[in-house]
Amino acid sequence: MSRVLSGIQPSGDLHLGNYLGAIRNWAADQDIHDAFYCIVDLHALTLDIDPAELRSRTFETALDLLAAGLDPQRCTLFVQSHVTEHVQLSWLLECTATMGELSRMTQFKDKSAGKDSVRVGLFTYPVLQCADILLYDAERVPVGDDQRQHVELAREVAIRFNYRFGDTLVVPEASIPKVGARVMDLQHPERKMSKSISSPLGTLLMLEEPEEIVRKVKKAVTDTDGEVRYDPEAKPGVSNLLELLAVATGGTPDQVAGSYERYGDLKSATADALVEMLRPIRERRDVLAADPGAVFRLLALGAAKARETASATYGRAAEAIGLLTPE
Ligand code: TRP
Repeated sequence: MSRVLSGIQPSGDLHLGNYLGAIRNWAADQDIHDAFYCIVDLHALTLDIDPAELRSRTFETALDLLAAGLDPQRCTLFVQSHVTEHVQLSWLLECTATMGELSRMTQFKDKSAGKDSVRVGLFTYPVLQCADILLYDAERVPVGDDQRQHVELAREVAIRFNYRFGDTLVVPEASIPKVGARVMDLQHPERKMSKSISSPLGTLLMLEEPEEIVRKVKKAVTDTDGEVRYDPEAKPGVSNLLELLAVATGGTPDQVAGSYERYGDLKSATADALVEMLRPIRERRDVLAADPGAVFRLLALGAAKARETASATYGRAAEAIGLLTPE
């Protein structure tokens, strides 16, 4: 089984786009890959985040991922800061990557643009991400298109390290889902559902209350021609609903379109299907939240498993780069 690794920021409530675009694939990957999933709390420190908030969001993210189907029996789920080798390898890689490379990272350019004070951590963020990936000998890194450049950097850095110090690090590859649900904002169906840009009415959360799902889907923007047909260009709103319905029921948007003549019926069917799809996640979430101690134990187990691989890789890299091995 090939090794995959991905990471998620503990940024709070996951929305449907996160679930359908990423987490659901992570869950599916557990049985066909040796999968490592990391809650990247150290990366979250590059933002202005309240300490208590960071702590609770990290825990909540663990609950969400477990509820969404990540199973510690079948994957390694852990919190980044619990495995100290991330920071250790990151330093070795900071001494491998260049200022020029990091200056070209579009995420850094976007996040630092117009700011008069930019943290060093925001600049070196991609190097820490390289460490996340390279510590686990990951061959594939399932990410969204926005992370392609960071994974490309991990490749470059691994290749350079190996060239200079001998074969040490596995060279990873980004794995970006070609098809798969593109979940659009319900109010602005021409743009992706996004926690930072979308209005609450345009966004469906993974743990949304059923009544809210119904309300938001009913209010979703459609169009005036009144025909239920899948055509993302001409009919973005209706097509988004068809796509959601298809994902939730396991058909294709074109197939499901045939069963409805009125927008109202399409909306009811879509809302019902989403409620059913998300119900087990909400139920598991409640069970998990009732026993935080058990969740902490799962995270401790995950960290111990992660550390086995991480410490071996770090040891190899430290040795290769010339650090004196302690007796
Ligand atoms: N930077 C990623 C994001 O914002 C999160 C991340 C951190 C990550 N480390 C990773 C993703 C390692 C994949 C692999 O989404």
